[in-house]
Amino acid sequence: MSPAPAAPALKDGRPALMASLLTADFARLGEQCARLEAAGVDGIHWDIMDGVAVPSLSFGPDVVAACRPAVSLPFEAHVMSVRPERFVAALAEAGCESLTIHPDWVRDPRRILQAIRDAGMVAGVALSPGTPVEFAEWHLDMIGLVLVLTVEPGYGGQPHLPAMAGKVARVEELARRAGHPVTVEVDGGIAADTIAAMHRAGARRFVVGSALWRAGSFGAAVADLRAACDGADAQTGRDGRAGAMADADR
Ligand code: DX5
Ligand code: ZN
Repeated sequence: MSPAPAAPALKDGRPALMASLLTADFARLGEQCARLEAAGVDGIHWDIMDGVAVPSLSFGPDVVAACRPAVSLPFEAHVMSVRPERFVAALAEAGCESLTIHPDWVRDPRRILQAIRDAGMVAGVALSPGTPVEFAEWHLDMIGLVLVLTVEPGYGGQPHLPAMAGKVARVEELARRAGHPVTVEVDGGIAADTIAAMHRAGARRFVVGSALWRAGSFGAAVADLRAACDGADAQTGRDGRAGAMADADR
């Protein structure tokens, strides 16, 4: 099997910020996507929730497709639904570049990951806080993206779980040994005061939702997030890699 293509992490040499729309004004999604693009985010993170696998019911492929013309940003889908294979063709058609599933929620994850790849998308696996990294390790040959959740799946605006930094570092280590590019992305409660530790743990792609809407403007939130990553780089530069690993084990 040819190695899986990876989702882009570093953009212009800097971490990628992917905007989650769960906190957005659902009456103006296309307009907000355009404003997010203008503010400098690197992509849109679509949380596809069916109200069964998780309590929330969010948006489906038709909404994603309706927003596609509004921006030129990459779209990624994080599917928190039963039988996620139902949405593979429609999300590819809607213009998603990657589709991430929770492998511990489905009976035959490899068949679904293959369907995602056959549809021309990067296949990804999402690890809920209680899901062991082995669920990514077992499928590393098929995927280009591991989404490490730092909140319980199902809602935006939840408190960040800093204890996940050690897991991010372990997944980063797995990705480095994969033999093909695998991007590690962190999802949940990412803000200017939480992103640095995850950056030091090695992550270079971040989903940001409520922190974008809490800030005075999308541009201010993006600037604060990038400054926090730059600060983490400066600290790691001072402390060396050991500093980053030490952080990750806290
Ligand atoms: C949670 C979703 C996340 C969430 C991120 O189930 O997968 O993408 O919306 O939103 P914040 O950044 O508000 O935690
Ligand atoms: Zn998500």
